[in-house]
Amino acid sequence: MRILITAGPTREAIDPVRYISNRSSGKMGYAIAEAAVEAGHEVILISGPTNLGAPVGLEMIPVESARDMYEAVRNRLDDSVGAGIFCAAVADYRPRSVPDRKIKKKEAAMSIELEPTDDILGSVRSAFGFGGVLVGFAAETNDMEANALEKLERKGCDLLVANDVSRKDIGFDRDANEVQLFFKDGRRESLPMQSKAELGVTLVKVVEAMA
Ligand code: PMT
Repeated sequence: MRILITAGPTREAIDPVRYISNRSSGKMGYAIAEAAVEAGHEVILISGPTNLGAPVGLEMIPVESARDMYEAVRNRLDDSVGAGIFCAAVADYRPRSVPDRKIKKKEAAMSIELEPTDDILGSVRSAFGFGGVLVGFAAETNDMEANALEKLERKGCDLLVANDVSRKDIGFDRDANEVQLFFKDGRRESLPMQSKAELGVTLVKVVEAMA
């Protein structure tokens, strides 16, 4: 099967030298991509900036901003793709205007006006017409179940993988994760804490069973 995976953070420019981003390391998405390659799948990995080396045996598309990632997903998510796994931590907002010169420091306080980015995962069914298995992630600090179920429905996913990013031992930039799976058909499953490498293997098997 051909599987498209998004991973890592996005960077939203404030000026030529500064940006807004988040703590995603890319480890979770890369682990899924490596497990999918190992299982014999053809993988397209669309990744924001990370310190990880490009995994071998797949097509890697590096991007920077949410807009870049949106365009890359739109270009590559065609009928040949059987599953999309959206693990990237995409910025929800970006600066409304970006000057082409570095912003000078002044004594007075300053503010930056932000505008929403495109919801990539939320566009996959509605705007891109994708008919394959659709897996989203949810990074939550509170009310995990309610938030995950709301995202599952609103973004048209078949499976939502939820993790508690308020914990210090899992989630962003850790080597381990612990997730709850919420399926469109109402099934739920809590997976034990495990390495992201092991979890990648498990998630690929779950997706294979849904395809
Ligand atoms: O990269 P690591 O350091 O290994 O950390 C892994 C992780 C914590 C980033 C990962 O497990 C995770 O939770 N990824 C989803 C992060 C996120 O942005 O969650 P969200 O709840 O804000 O978004 C919900 C879903 O919509 C996600 O599938 C996200 O990729 C997608 N989204 C969000 C906003 C947007 N503009 N476009 C999107 O496609």
